[in-house]
Amino acid sequence: MRVLLVTGKGGVGKTTVSAATAVKAADLGYRTLVMSTDPAHSLADAFQVELGDNPTSLIPGLAAQQINSQQRLEESWGEVRDALTEFFDWSGLQGIEAEELTVFPGMDEIFSLVTVRDHVRSGAYDLIVVDCAPTAETLRLLSLPEVLSWYMEKMFPIGRRVAKVVRPMLTKVTSMPVADDAVFAAVQRFYDRLDGIREILADPEITSARLVMNPEKMVIAEARRTYTYLGLFGYAVDAAIVNRVLPESVEDTYFAKWREIQKEHLASVDEGFADVNIRHLPLFDQEMVGVDHLRTLGEELYGDDDPSARLSLGRPFRVEDIGDDVVLAVSVPLAEKGEVDVVRHGSELVVTLGPYRRSIVLPDSLARRHVRRAQLTEGELKITFGLDP
Ligand SMILES: Nc1ncnc2c1ncn2[C@@H]1O[C@H](COP(=O)(O)OP(=O)(O)OP(=O)(O)O)[C@@H](O)[C@H]1O
Ligand SMILES: [Mg+2]
Repeated sequence: MRVLLVTGKGGVGKTTVSAATAVKAADLGYRTLVMSTDPAHSLADAFQVELGDNPTSLIPGLAAQQINSQQRLEESWGEVRDALTEFFDWSGLQGIEAEELTVFPGMDEIFSLVTVRDHVRSGAYDLIVVDCAPTAETLRLLSLPEVLSWYMEKMFPIGRRVAKVVRPMLTKVTSMPVADDAVFAAVQRFYDRLDGIREILADPEITSARLVMNPEKMVIAEARRTYTYLGLFGYAVDAAIVNRVLPESVEDTYFAKWREIQKEHLASVDEGFADVNIRHLPLFDQEMVGVDHLRTLGEELYGDDDPSARLSLGRPFRVEDIGDDVVLAVSVPLAEKGEVDVVRHGSELVVTLGPYRRSIVLPDSLARRHVRRAQLTEGELKITFGLDP
């Protein structure tokens, strides 16, 4: 059983890559499901068919599904949201602002992931390809259940047991609405629904994330940030897919300049994603929709490789707290002392090892700190970050 999360900036080709990957896997005989969690569903456009909230069979071995995440959100979160609305109303916040505050960014997508988990548990598929929304916000949120608990504490300031005792008093003193048992039960159900999702998505044997990008500066910058955060929260990225690369066969002088520019960007992809499998997809001379085109694309992307396999096993880095310091451990398997050079440019860390250079975008929490020392031990470069210089 494998799950592939396909993510990247808006418009880079996530849906196309997801669909092509799924067609290739189905052709190889895997029972495959491709599903989109993005409310702006375009999987139906990619396949040129109608798709709904339940899996629809497309070709032998392949089904597709577009999750109605709003509906799933409503089912799980509706009761809690109503209580929040009441609380905001009491605190003087009303209307559309209050409404917005009762739903956290990326929350609807979390409920789509509930569906992914259910499919994994059902054992009905060998491969599930998830066409994610344009950001990895969901994955960040998911990997931080404590953030959600923190919000809940703020929203429901009185613990369940305390509420039982204090509610009668409180309602006399203030008009503050105190969440009743029904709300706490709803919150509990909400947590229960999320049960097991992180275990599936953070297990590299099951789940790999594939980052789609175009050979453009800002697009690569965002993909690198996503890569860092996925790594920080323990999700395995196994491939970087660069889509819309100008093919060599284009000889037009107008595009020659563009090819030069792309070449530089492709080099920065090599440095920024040195630990994962990097694949290029050309810019085709037409829109690549429909099963036949998607099949062509899948061949181009994977050739003789198995699209469901882990395309790389590397992990970009580990982060460890040691007292007040934070240690960033970067794996450099064959490095020897004196060979490795570490330079920091603002929020970026560049590690040079002989002729190889790789750079890591530091998570914000580390970018604020100072490098204290760097040590090479057992194939790992350990960089210690402290709060004071
Ligand atoms: N390599 C390519 N060559 C030609 N056309 C492409 C290529 N890749 C994608 N396209 C086309 O570009 C359009 C956008 O691609 P796609 O919908 O896959 O992007 P996306 O990242 O899913 O976008 P969104 O963020 O809106 O979900 C589609 O019409 C698709 O057919
Ligand atoms: Mg899309």
